[in-house]
Amino acid sequence: MVARKLDPDGRVYVTNFISDRLLLFGATGDLSRRMLLPSLCALDVEGLLDPKIEIIGTARSELDDQGFRNLARQSLEQFLPVDRRGGMATFLNRLSYQALDANRIEGFQALADKVGTPQEGLSIFLSTAPSLFEPTIHGLGQSGLAGSNVRIGLEKPLGIDLASSRVINDAVATAFPEPRIYRIDHYLGKETVQNLLALRFANLMFEPLWNAAHIDHVQITVAETVGLEGRVAFYDDAGALRDMVQNHMLQLLALVAMEPPVSYDATNVRDEKVKVLRSLRKVRVGETVTGQYRAGAIGGQAVPGYDDELGKDSDTETFVAIKAHIDNWRWQGVPFYLRTGKRLPRRTTEIVVQFRSVPHSIFTGRGAKMVPNRLVIGIQPSENITLSLMAKVPGLDREGIGLRSIPLAITMPDAFAGPQRRIAYERLLLDLIEGDQTLFVRRDEVEAQWDWIDAIRAGWEEQQLEPRTYTAGSWGPSAAIALAERDGVTWHE
Ligand code: BG6
Repeated sequence: MVARKLDPDGRVYVTNFISDRLLLFGATGDLSRRMLLPSLCALDVEGLLDPKIEIIGTARSELDDQGFRNLARQSLEQFLPVDRRGGMATFLNRLSYQALDANRIEGFQALADKVGTPQEGLSIFLSTAPSLFEPTIHGLGQSGLAGSNVRIGLEKPLGIDLASSRVINDAVATAFPEPRIYRIDHYLGKETVQNLLALRFANLMFEPLWNAAHIDHVQITVAETVGLEGRVAFYDDAGALRDMVQNHMLQLLALVAMEPPVSYDATNVRDEKVKVLRSLRKVRVGETVTGQYRAGAIGGQAVPGYDDELGKDSDTETFVAIKAHIDNWRWQGVPFYLRTGKRLPRRTTEIVVQFRSVPHSIFTGRGAKMVPNRLVIGIQPSENITLSLMAKVPGLDREGIGLRSIPLAITMPDAFAGPQRRIAYERLLLDLIEGDQTLFVRRDEVEAQWDWIDAIRAGWEEQQLEPRTYTAGSWGPSAAIALAERDGVTWHE
C-alpha cells in the first residue's frame, strides 16, 4: 500500500514505495565501480532487491547496454569478493545504459524513455561533479523524472561552504521535496556507526554517565594511510576540514552527543542530531591545528609528500585537529578533540570516551593508583568496544593494594560471527530503494555543519594560517599533540 502525503509546500509525495527502477548518475565513475555496483550486486545475490528491479546507468561515456555490463562485470571482479558474486549474471542482466551530457537538456528525454514507467517508483542516485547538480535536477524535472514516486540520493560533495550548499539544496528542492531527498554520508551506512546508537540507547548503564558530570573529554580520530589517490583537483580544493570533518566526523560527534531520540526513525533521530550540530560553539583559531604531509614512510613503504603528489605548492590541509565544545546542558565543559588526516601511520576510526576519576579514592592510603575508566569504540578497521575497568592485582597486598586498569573487550566480528560484513553503501542503497531516510542527512543538519565549518575557515583566512608540515607516517604536526596535552589529555593511539 503506497501512502501519499503532503510536504510543507503542499506538494504530494509518495512514501513507502519500493522502487523497481534505479537510475545511477555517474555510473561509470570511481564510486560506482568501487562501491555502488558491487553493493547492488551483493544485495541482488542475496535476494534483497525487488526481483523486478531494473538498474539504468548514465554518464557521459558513449556506451551501450553491453558496454556498461562489461564495465560492471570488471568492477565486480575487482571489488566484490568472489563468494559474494554467485548470481552475478542475473544482476548484470538488470543493467542498461543511456549516455547523457547533463549540460544538454535535450538528452534527458532519451533518458526518461530508457527509464520507462516504473510500476511503483524510481530511485535516483546522483554521484556527479557538483557543477552538474543544477542542470541534472533541471533535466530530471523537465523530462518527468521527478514525479511524486521518485526519490533522489545525493552523494557529497554538496557544495564547498554554506552558501554553495544552499544553492545546490535550493536547486534540488525545486524538483524534490525534502521527504524524497536522501543526502548520503556513507559513514552512517557503516554497521559500527549504527552500533553507537545501540550501545548508547539499548543499554541502561551508559546513559546515566553520558554527560559532563562523568565524562572528562571525548576524542574522535579518523586516520587514513592513503594520500591523494588520484583525486588531485578535488582534494586540493577541499582539504581535510571540508572532506572529512564537515560530514563524517560531525555525524559521529552528533551520534555520540545527541539526546535520546523518541524513537529510531528519520524525524526523531535527525531532530536530535541537528540540535547537537547547532550547539557547537564557534571554534577559536588557537583551538585548531592544520598540517600537510611531507615525504615519509608508512608500513615500511616510502611515500611522497603532498606537494610532490600534487606537482605544485599548496596551502591545503591534509590534517586537521580541533578542540570542539558543545554548548548545551549535557556537555558543558567537556572538550571533544577531533583529528583526521591523510598519510597517518595506520588506518583507524575510533571514538574514545574518557570518564572522570572517582570522586574519592578509598585506596589512596594503601598506595594504589587510580586510572579513570575509558570506553574506546573502534569503528574501523577493527570493530570493537573496549571498556577499561580498575581491578585488584591478585596478591596479599603486603606492600599496598595493587590496582590495575584492565580491558573488558568485545570484538564485534567474534560476537557476531554469522552475519555478513557489508559495504556501507549496501545499507544506504537498500534504504534509498525502500524509502527509509533515517540514515540520511537532512538539510538543516548539512547547513548547521557548514555554518560551523565556515567559521573555522574564516578564522584561518583572517589569521592567514598556513598548514604545518608533518612527515608521512607520523600522527600529524606536533602542535596537534600539544593541543590536547595543554589540557592534560593524550591522544589515544
Ligand atoms: C570520503 C573522503 O568521503 O571518505 C575520502 O572524500 C576518504 O577522502 C573517505 O578517504 C574515507 O572513507 P572510509 O570509508 O574509507 O573511511
